[in-house]
Amino acid sequence: MKEERREVIYRQAKEWILEAGELIRQKINGPLIVETKSNPKDLVTAVDREIEYFLAKNIKRTFPDHYLFSEEGYGEDLKTLDGVIWIVDPIDGTMNFVKQKRNFAISIGIFYNGIGEIGLVYDCMGGNLYTAMRGKGAYKNDEGLPELAPNLTLEESILDFNHYLLCENDVIDEIVMQRLVEKIRGVRSYCCAALALAYVAEGIVDGYLTKKLAPWDIAGGMIIANEVGAVSTNLDGNSVNMLMNESTLTCHPAIQKEIIHDYLKKGKK
Ligand code: IPD
Ligand code: CA
Ligand code: CA
Repeated sequence: MKEERREVIYRQAKEWILEAGELIRQKINGPLIVETKSNPKDLVTAVDREIEYFLAKNIKRTFPDHYLFSEEGYGEDLKTLDGVIWIVDPIDGTMNFVKQKRNFAISIGIFYNGIGEIGLVYDCMGGNLYTAMRGKGAYKNDEGLPELAPNLTLEESILDFNHYLLCENDVIDEIVMQRLVEKIRGVRSYCCAALALAYVAEGIVDGYLTKKLAPWDIAGGMIIANEVGAVSTNLDGNSVNMLMNESTLTCHPAIQKEIIHDYLKKGKK
């Protein structure tokens, strides 16, 4: 993608994500119409749909040749990553949005022919906008985030993952995951993939892993985390497929091999 073009798209995306955040702040204390989707814990609200509609309308009007891949139904059913694709989650962390009114984010990842070019994650209640363009570094509220420190051991690491990996599950032996918990310094479960990835970029969490998420959960945050040197694969250590629901691990490069070989591969079911 030409640099000038990428700049134009980035500036638009930034303007719209900030406006979308303002819309959420206006609505958050009003009555939230909450529905469930695939299961009773899979929540969606009218605000999720409204924010996606706002972004979809702007993207389609301004960039009619771009594609949208998104959670709430305003996007396309994509079979390839050809062209410019906006991968959007209007509210990542809807359960936090409903219950806590914080700890959620708007996530946008923009890909060109399969390569992540622009990432934005907006924690609109905390007032933190994380952004990145491939090759240009990552930013928090327009201030550059440093590259991840060169050395890190697993014993010093804080990882984010959901509690269900420590219960009986169909992906990884929970006993192996419990050994991982004993080895590392701490676990956090923010239950918002986009924010967890932004925290990896910020260096306040050293890795985020999940047994199965959609591309829109991780697209924006992964681009931002990768820009400061974090590495991303699925839990088998292979590259992440941005067209399907998959497991993912994004972490500091110094701990990636040990997590994959000594824990994820050993515990794989
Ligand atoms: C959820 C969040 C959460 C993850 C869930 C996702 P949503 O997205 O990313 O961290 O654990 O599996 O569904 O539904 O709030 O957009
Ligand atoms: Ca999500
Ligand atoms: Ca969502």
